[in-house]
Amino acid sequence: MTIRRVVLEDAETLSQIGSDTFYNTFKGTCTDEDMNFFLFEYYNIEQVKKELSDSNDYFYFAEVDSKAVGYLRIKEDYTAFEKMKQWKALELKRLYVVEDFHGKGIAQALTDFALDFAKEHCYEVVWLGVWEHNYRAQKFYKKIGFEYTGHKHPFPIGNTPQTDLWYWKFLNNEQ
Ligand SMILES: CC(C)(COP(=O)(O)OP(=O)(O)OC[C@H]1O[C@@H](n2cnc3c(N)ncnc32)[C@H](O)[C@@H]1OP(=O)(O)O)[C@@H](O)C(=O)NCCC(=O)NCCS
Repeated sequence: MTIRRVVLEDAETLSQIGSDTFYNTFKGTCTDEDMNFFLFEYYNIEQVKKELSDSNDYFYFAEVDSKAVGYLRIKEDYTAFEKMKQWKALELKRLYVVEDFHGKGIAQALTDFALDFAKEHCYEVVWLGVWEHNYRAQKFYKKIGFEYTGHKHPFPIGNTPQTDLWYWKFLNNEQ
């Protein structure tokens, strides 16, 4: 398994894996109409190209045999949770692994990569939002040292209301 930064030429692949993994994670939790709206709004090729063109928006693929089996998105962005502004904080915006590769260390490798990135760039804390009923993801994040901040926020899929919990992990930058 290798990890590499996603570049503009990978836009089609990122759009596909982004939309497939979002669908597989959230199917059945909202209406078909809301799902279709969300997939189009956030994973259409122009939107993906726009995000990949932002040099401060970091996407990474985990690849096995040169095929993307998961991806990570990290960015310094305080807009969704302004409380984080008191620290130099990195948002783990997305972590999605295709189902066949769950439980195989891919997510762990991507998260370790994000934490190393954060330490190298002198971040004090990494934070993320996770759906309140996504128990597997919450277990995973707790296993690797993230904890619930005590704060939550609305994360609707179209017109379907959903709530995300903010998790964080403070870093020891003494290295
Ligand atoms: C969340 C995700 C990245 C975690 O990666 P993973 O490889 O599945 O994680 P792991 O298997 O290492 O850890 C998951 C843990 O949850 C446990 N688990 C599995 N199903 C569970 C459930 N329904 N409830 C609680 N715990 C569960 C597993 O047993 C494992 O714990 P263990 O290692 O102590 O046995 C991956 O499952 C994924 O991509 N899911 C879909 C996308 C997603 O939800 N992304 C997160 C968005 S915030």
